[in-house]
Amino acid sequence: MTDSSSSSSHKPSIDTSVPHSARVWNYWLGGKDHYPVDRTVGDQVMAMFPDITRLARADRAFLGRAVRYLASEAGIRQFLDIGTGLPTANNTHEVAQAIAPQSRIVYVDNDPLVLVHARALLTSTPEGACDYIDADLRDVEKILAAAAKTLDFTQPVALMLLGIVGQIPDSDHPQSVIKRLMAPMPSGSYLALSDGINTSATFTEAVRHYNENSANTYHPRSPEQIAGFFEGLELVEPGVVGLTRWRPEPTPFAEPGEVPGMCGVGRKP
Ligand SMILES: C[S@@+](CC[C@H](N)C(=O)[O-])C[C@H]1O[C@@H](n2cnc3c(N)ncnc32)[C@H](O)[C@@H]1O
Repeated sequence: MTDSSSSSSHKPSIDTSVPHSARVWNYWLGGKDHYPVDRTVGDQVMAMFPDITRLARADRAFLGRAVRYLASEAGIRQFLDIGTGLPTANNTHEVAQAIAPQSRIVYVDNDPLVLVHARALLTSTPEGACDYIDADLRDVEKILAAAAKTLDFTQPVALMLLGIVGQIPDSDHPQSVIKRLMAPMPSGSYLALSDGINTSATFTEAVRHYNENSANTYHPRSPEQIAGFFEGLELVEPGVVGLTRWRPEPTPFAEPGEVPGMCGVGRKP
């Protein structure tokens, strides 16, 4: 079954017969852009691993802290956010442009429903710019060529890879994809990355169930593999750590507990 209703001239075809990562992620985040198949597998994963919603929210909270750090302390004004996800609260451009309105942001995702909703990601300040590229993470040349229309690769760029590198298997050489994406970026550019890890048996089992029932597969990796993605970069303190442990901000609520996800920010020397 397909849903071709679209606000985009591309008229992407939405497959509502099988769960998709962007839509299930949106369901766990409490969004409204998902179909019954997404909610069914989302509920099944939640029954097997109830912390999945905390993991999704901890990842979004890291996105906010990382972009605030990059825009304020690191002075970054350009962001390439691959595996953007469906628009939600505090999208990268909103966080960055609240600090520096002239920030330029390019979003990339390969999900047709994200393309349909891309208009909500293009609400740039007049001083800045936002663009959206419909592309696969592995199509590095296409992404860099299209991003160069909005981003100036002679100036530092922050590459945002949140919950996306785990979407491709080792056989697609994720380390090489990251290196090729960062190759044209000058010294002083950054990588912000987060992903699920394979240290929790219940999480790994829930992911196996998701993979058997979804359009795409997810590949949680070891903490050492996640840290390896920052090879050649200078790690920003506190390094590659649990999702809730990277520069936590004061909260009036209880400290969040650990979730099976890691994150970090690295600077290109
Ligand atoms: C887990 S969500 C993460 C969304 C967002 N980065 C966040 O942290 O909240 C993964 C996103 O990556 C996208 N995605 C999955 N595989 C992809 C690929 N090979 N190329 C581009 N995007 C992909 C999905 O459509 C989805 O929007």
